Amino acid sequence: MNILLLGSGGREHAIAWKLAQSPKTEKLFIAPGNAGTASVGTNVDISVNDFPALKKFAVDHQINMVVVGPEDPLVNGIYDYFKNDAVLANIPVIGPSKAGAQLEGSKDFAKAFMRRHQIPTARYKSVSAATIEEGYAFLETLHAPYVLKADGLAAGKGVLIVPTLEEAKKELQEMLGGLFGQASRTVVIEEYLDGIECSVFVLTDGNSYKILPVAKDYKRIGEGNTGLNTGGMGAISPVPFADEVFMEKVEKKIIRPTIDGLRAENIDYKGFIFFGLINVQGEPMVIEYNCRMGDPETEVVMPRIASDLVALLEGVAEGNLADYALHEDPRTAVTVMLVSGGYPESYEKGKRITGFEQVPGQCILFHAGTKFSEEGILTNGGRVIAISAYGHNKEEALAHSYAGARALDFEKKYFRRDIGLDV
Ligand code: AMP
Ligand code: GLY
Repeated sequence: MNILLLGSGGREHAIAWKLAQSPKTEKLFIAPGNAGTASVGTNVDISVNDFPALKKFAVDHQINMVVVGPEDPLVNGIYDYFKNDAVLANIPVIGPSKAGAQLEGSKDFAKAFMRRHQIPTARYKSVSAATIEEGYAFLETLHAPYVLKADGLAAGKGVLIVPTLEEAKKELQEMLGGLFGQASRTVVIEEYLDGIECSVFVLTDGNSYKILPVAKDYKRIGEGNTGLNTGGMGAISPVPFADEVFMEKVEKKIIRPTIDGLRAENIDYKGFIFFGLINVQGEPMVIEYNCRMGDPETEVVMPRIASDLVALLEGVAEGNLADYALHEDPRTAVTVMLVSGGYPESYEKGKRITGFEQVPGQCILFHAGTKFSEEGILTNGGRVIAISAYGHNKEEALAHSYAGARALDFEKKYFRRDIGLDV
């Protein structure tokens, strides 16, 4: 079949890499893609949010399936756009409906959904400018630190963790005053949860589901989880603490009630659900939902799916996912992200990347922010390339990835040297 994948990051290169391995894939297009996706498919210069242009491309190129990488087009309703168009209705979109994408698009919706379905999560209160006094009162019932979340999408920057009550009240006022624009017109105030996080991914056809390999990402720029939040500096899979006992609780208390809740509320959901979990003394709780795969978790999750991903996605589209098996590769996979110096604050683009020939054969390179030029491959973002590798254990996988991270070079390259060491 002909597949159109939307997105342009390391996540999409990893998904494209996996889709391209399937004997079912005839043509693979990536819109807009990057220098890495061009090695496994054909890049198409269309924005993920330009639905009319995607429609024309899908029709002209006899696309049989659309796989959506990032949240934006999902929150904007690409699933519904295809479903409600007479010409496109037969082309399945892997990703939730606009209503389902609200699990990520509105933190207030997600928290209310969890409350309705008794899914374990932090205590919370949602407030608007009109109810700010109730927000202050709720903050007074909590202990430091205080968690404030912009309700809407804020490019991963909408969560503040504030050390004192006084600052929390001030930040609440600023958020409601438009600190994150429209996204923070409603703010979710949450109890702070202390524990270690992991990312659980599920692929669902709305009834049945498959749990993908569990991963842990490293969000902070600095070693020892210090400094500013980033889009992700590395990841590892499997996660030792996500053992059978923990995962049984996750499935029973979180995954099943979520899938059943979506169905009970008549929310169309055929795609990936990302459960951002925290392990609080052995008990899993939901920190957040996302309506897509994680980045850079996908760069370790895809390598650990041994089954044909296209077959599984067909199962999602046809609603018979239960008939398919998902096998995991038993090896450990890690990924280390090379970033531009200065990221996540200001950084330069357009630096030539060298050393590709010196990267050990065990490494799998997933491009995040790169582009072609006459001089070669150039950096084109804060996160540049994820270097994934397998190992029979964590140490072996890390040794391969780090050899690759040292071999590739560009001006002001930076990477964390402690990925996977805390688990
Ligand atoms: P989110 O965008 O909701 O995932 O929040 C970003 C990050 O903030 C999470 O990955 C956590 O590290 C942290 N965080 C969010 N909510 C909480 C909470 N209730 N307690 C502790 N940390 C949190
Ligand atoms: N790695 C976290 C995310 O993709 O949101």
